[in-house]
Amino acid sequence: MEKIGFIGMGNMGRAILSGVLKEFSKEDIIFSAKSPETKHRIYEQTGIEYADSNAECANKSKYLILAVKPQCYEEVLKEIRYMVTPAHIIISLAPGKTIEQLKLNLGKDKRIVRAMPNTPAMIGEGMTGVSAVREELSDIEKKVLLQIFGSCGRVEFIEENLMDAVVCASGSSPAFVYLFIEALADGALRCGMPRKQAYIFAAQAVKGAASMVLESGEHPGVLKDNVCSPAGTTIEGIAVLEEFGMRNAVLKASEAVYKKCTKM
Ligand SMILES: NC(=O)c1ccc[n+]([C@@H]2O[C@H](COP(=O)([O-])OP(=O)(O)OC[C@H]3O[C@@H](n4cnc5c(N)ncnc54)[C@H](OP(=O)(O)O)[C@@H]3O)[C@@H](O)[C@H]2O)c1
Repeated sequence: MEKIGFIGMGNMGRAILSGVLKEFSKEDIIFSAKSPETKHRIYEQTGIEYADSNAECANKSKYLILAVKPQCYEEVLKEIRYMVTPAHIIISLAPGKTIEQLKLNLGKDKRIVRAMPNTPAMIGEGMTGVSAVREELSDIEKKVLLQIFGSCGRVEFIEENLMDAVVCASGSSPAFVYLFIEALADGALRCGMPRKQAYIFAAQAVKGAASMVLESGEHPGVLKDNVCSPAGTTIEGIAVLEEFGMRNAVLKASEAVYKKCTKM
């Protein structure tokens, strides 16, 4: 097995690594990071070999995951440019950076894959969209890519023009959901529930509702209707959410995320 390399071990690097460690052996993985502190910490926690430089990490791996912030790409790409070959598969996690742009940096003959995961990957509940020039990849390489991202949740190959939509739907949206859970718990707190308990009730309700959408195959509107009885309590709450424009707020938030992606 050719190694999986990570450049960057922040939130997303660690999230993917935690899944990858379930599917691949430590010897199949190598990483680099900016600071010696991060390298030593990850090594102590996982026993995974680290590279002294990004170029060394690129040299020793085949599947190279760029898990650094988009602002660091220029610097990192400069460091690895002369080390990557057409045999590498460079996996970019950066929103808004297209395969074409990355090929301009690394060379037209280089193989670039874009992946957009999310932080629930850390507990195996991630959602990742992957796009690539599919004819550039062998069946085995596609399988390994699905194995890497499947190790931390669901994964689907998608067309590259939908990548920014993936950022809206699943990349950034966990933050929206945390805001919602926090607000739900604050509401329960106002009604007297202790805070710790309120987070458990609110989070489990969101998790359960999400599982209902995925497992029942029902339209979310139908599931919503099932909770609302005539002249009941829930429809009173729905009326207030509609009055304060909850749907519109979410649509506008997605639009803002999308716009930002296109400016990265
Ligand atoms: N966070 C999310 O929810 C999320 C979701 C989808 C996609 N993404 C994408 O995932 C990528 C990583 O984001 P993140 O949230 O994981 O960032 P992060 O938590 O800030 O971590 C960035 C990592 O990059 C390392 N780094 C910075 N400059 C470097 C350099 N020159 N060479 C080597 N390593 C360097 C840092 O090293 P030190 O630890 O030593 O500082 C750190 O480990 C981004 O492109 C982001 O857009 C993130």
